[in-house]
Amino acid sequence: MLHLTPEETAWLAGDAGPAVKRAMEIVVALGRIYGAGRLVPVESVQISGVSYRNIGDAGLDFLRRWADEGARVRVPTTLNPTAMDMADWLAQGFTAEFAAKQVDVVDAFVRMGVGEGAPVPTCTPYLIGNRPPPGAHIAWAESSAVAFANSVLGARTNREGGPGAIAAAITGRTGAYGLHLDAARLPTHRVEVAVSLNELSDYSALGAIVGQHASQGVPYFEGLPLTSVDVAERDSLWEEKLKALGAAMAATGAVALFHVEGVTPEASAPPDGVDALVVRDLAPGYAELSDPVTEIDLVWVGCPHASLHELALIAERVRGKALRVPLWVTCARPVRAVAREQGLVDVIEAAGGRIFADACMAIAPVRDLGFRAVATPSAKGATYLRNLARVAACFGTLSACVEAAVTGRWSAEDR
Ligand code: F3S
Repeated sequence: MLHLTPEETAWLAGDAGPAVKRAMEIVVALGRIYGAGRLVPVESVQISGVSYRNIGDAGLDFLRRWADEGARVRVPTTLNPTAMDMADWLAQGFTAEFAAKQVDVVDAFVRMGVGEGAPVPTCTPYLIGNRPPPGAHIAWAESSAVAFANSVLGARTNREGGPGAIAAAITGRTGAYGLHLDAARLPTHRVEVAVSLNELSDYSALGAIVGQHASQGVPYFEGLPLTSVDVAERDSLWEEKLKALGAAMAATGAVALFHVEGVTPEASAPPDGVDALVVRDLAPGYAELSDPVTEIDLVWVGCPHASLHELALIAERVRGKALRVPLWVTCARPVRAVAREQGLVDVIEAAGGRIFADACMAIAPVRDLGFRAVATPSAKGATYLRNLARVAACFGTLSACVEAAVTGRWSAEDR
């Protein structure tokens, strides 16, 4: 039985207008479906379903109608990536027609007050200052951001759907079910990592393997070469490693929370008898996400959106090289601005690469842009390139991807 406060009951009855009524109907319906006893106020919302390629005219009309009804967000709200760089889309090869529609989608969110009227589309809001404190109830939609927020930050969110997240933003509420409750946050799988992890993409390959195995469970990792010292010093790539791990598990499975022994805030050993997995080899994680192609026509790095550390790593790997095929890096606009100040953008562009803000290639019309086979150091990127963008994917290390950008060729042994 879902209990509503008098204020929530009034909103549901339409006392705050049709936009809030519509939002409350969604929040209440979801709460009832999942057995919530009450609603919880949320501190922030992150909205997915922003790519015009994915939502089309029907989705755009839906957003416009809601905005016309007076929908306004009640809590700080951020947007997932768009299909294109909102300023530099011509350089990516988008048509003016597509770009106009994508702008219309973002405009509908602007009218709702998302991002205080100037949203920064990104799947890594936590890299640009949106870092909810441990225990905070939030309603985020992007699966990799959900995994990061729950696991690394210790915030509490289910994996919201597109309309559900918008409804949570308008009402400032979500149902108290799933990962908002203690019981669902306990580990369900023990994962022993018995393989060395040398590259950032190795964490992604590990995540691809564990995500398939754990499905919707909560893995507890033992033996990851991360320590609380990494976390305290904040100068390693520890956050990027956990970002890659969580994104991959959310893509090949539906993992929304994981724990790492001695590192993540809620890590406590699972009871004896839970499902156990020992990972001794990462090769299957790479192999299963690599199609049998020998030539690639795009390299995509930045899934999830790249951090400043990652941009420095990419600049280091491409410095002085001449890339034959496009190497596109995606990140949040403010991250690119800092990278530009630090000279990293110049290094990457001198080699022939490009850094695009706002965008995600997995939700872009990649085939219409002329690409058929894309190499990436991200398991999530490879999964979505195949399933959403419908192109061949090659998943390998950053070094292998840079080498592929130099030669235009891909071989499974290279990874
Ligand atoms: Fe982000 Fe797109 Fe990857 S939303 S996590 S860059 S698939």
